[in-house]
Amino acid sequence: MGDWREIKPAKRTEKIKYAIRDIVVLAKEVEKTGKEMLYLNIGDPNIYDFETPKFLIDRTIEAMNNNRNGYAPSSGIQEAVDAIRTESILKGFKSVHDIFVTTGASEAIDIALTALLDPGDQFLLPAPTYPLYNTIINKLNAETKYYYLDENNNWEPDLDDIESKITEKTKGILIINPNNPTGTNYSEKSLKGVLDIAKKHNLLIFSDEIYEKLLFDNGKHISLATLDGEAPIITFNGLSKSHMVPGFRIGWGIVTGAKEVVCGYNEAMQKLVRARLSANHPEQYAIKPALLDQNQPHFAEMLEKLTVRRDITFKRLNEIKGVSLVKPQGAFYAFAKLDLDVDDTTFCNNLLKETGVVVVPGSGFGQVPGTNHFRVVFLPNEEILLKAYDQIESFIKKHY
Ligand SMILES: Cc1ncc(COP(=O)(O)O)c(C=O)c1O
Repeated sequence: MGDWREIKPAKRTEKIKYAIRDIVVLAKEVEKTGKEMLYLNIGDPNIYDFETPKFLIDRTIEAMNNNRNGYAPSSGIQEAVDAIRTESILKGFKSVHDIFVTTGASEAIDIALTALLDPGDQFLLPAPTYPLYNTIINKLNAETKYYYLDENNNWEPDLDDIESKITEKTKGILIINPNNPTGTNYSEKSLKGVLDIAKKHNLLIFSDEIYEKLLFDNGKHISLATLDGEAPIITFNGLSKSHMVPGFRIGWGIVTGAKEVVCGYNEAMQKLVRARLSANHPEQYAIKPALLDQNQPHFAEMLEKLTVRRDITFKRLNEIKGVSLVKPQGAFYAFAKLDLDVDDTTFCNNLLKETGVVVVPGSGFGQVPGTNHFRVVFLPNEEILLKAYDQIESFIKKHY
C-alpha cells in the first residue's frame, strides 16, 4: 500500500443488488467444475438463436462509413426523433411533448428518475419488477414503495394496493407493460385504473413499453399515452428487445402530457441529457428503419419461435408438482410460483449447484411476502428448455 490508504466506496452502493447478474457469479463457479450449464437467466436474445435483422446492421455500418462517428445531438439525431414521434402518433399517442434518445432505455430511466427524485422522495414500483428501477432509486437516496401485481388476476396491478401505498412523499409510479418478469400485457381496465389513481394524487407515470412488440396470440398492446393526452407520462422504449440489438444500446423516453404540467420537469431532464453529451451515434441510424419500415419478417419469425417456447414453458412448469405458472402473454419471461417448503434463493442456488440450471430467485424482482417464485427466460431453444424443465422436475422430486 505504501503511503496509500484504502479507497472507501460510497454508502449508497451498499444497498445495490442485481439478482439477474448476481446469480451468474455462482453459475461461473459451478461451470468451472465442468458441469453442463443451462442458462435461463438473461434476457439477451443474441446469446441464443436470435440474430439482428441485417438491414439494421447495414444502416449502422453505412452511418459509420459516412463518418457519423462524432457526438450526436444530445436529444438524438433528427431523423430518429422524427421517426419516434411519427410512430407514436400512428399508435395513437394523444400528445407528444418531447423525445430524447438514450444509451438504451436504461439511461432514459436513470435520467427520468434523477430529474424527479430528491433524497427521501418515494416512488411506486410494481412487485415483481425489473430491478434496475430500484437500483437507481437507491442510488438517489430516495425510497421505493412496492405495490403488488395480483397473481390471481393474471398479474394485473392491484389498484387497491396502489392506493394504500401512496403518501404525501410519493412522486410517481411505474408500470411495465408488457411486464418483466411476468409477461402480462395489461388490460385497458388496469391502465385506466392506474391513470385515475395517478390523477387523484398528481403522480408522474412511467410506462416502460420495451416489450410492446413481443406479444403472443395476436395480443394487442395499449400504450398508456394513447389513453390520456393530459396526464404526465414518460414512455420508455428501445430497440434492444424488439430488434435483437441490446448491444447497440439504443433506447428513448417520450414525454407526454399537458405542457404546463410537464414543461419544468422536462427541462430538468434535458439538462441531464445535454450534460452527458449524446447517446451512441451511428446506431441511431437504425431507429427510423426499425420503427417505420413495413418489411420486417423478423417479427413473425421471432414470435413464432417464442410462442412455441412459451407454450413448452407453460405446459412443463405447470406439470411439476409444487410449481405453477400464469401464462405469459408477451416478452420472454415466465415468473413461476414455488409451493414448496423452501425459500426461493435457497431453491435457485441449490438447483444451480446440483443441476446446472440457472434461474433467478423471485426475491430479486420483489414478491408478496411469504410467496416464493423464480424467473425463467424462455429464449433458449426447445431442447435446452425441455432439458432444464426435466432437471427442475427431478430436483424437486428428489428433495421435496
Ligand atoms: C422492463 C425493462 N426495461 C428496460 C430494460 C433495459 O433495456 P435497454 O437495453 O434498452 O437498456 C430492460 C432490459 O432487460 C427491461 O427488461
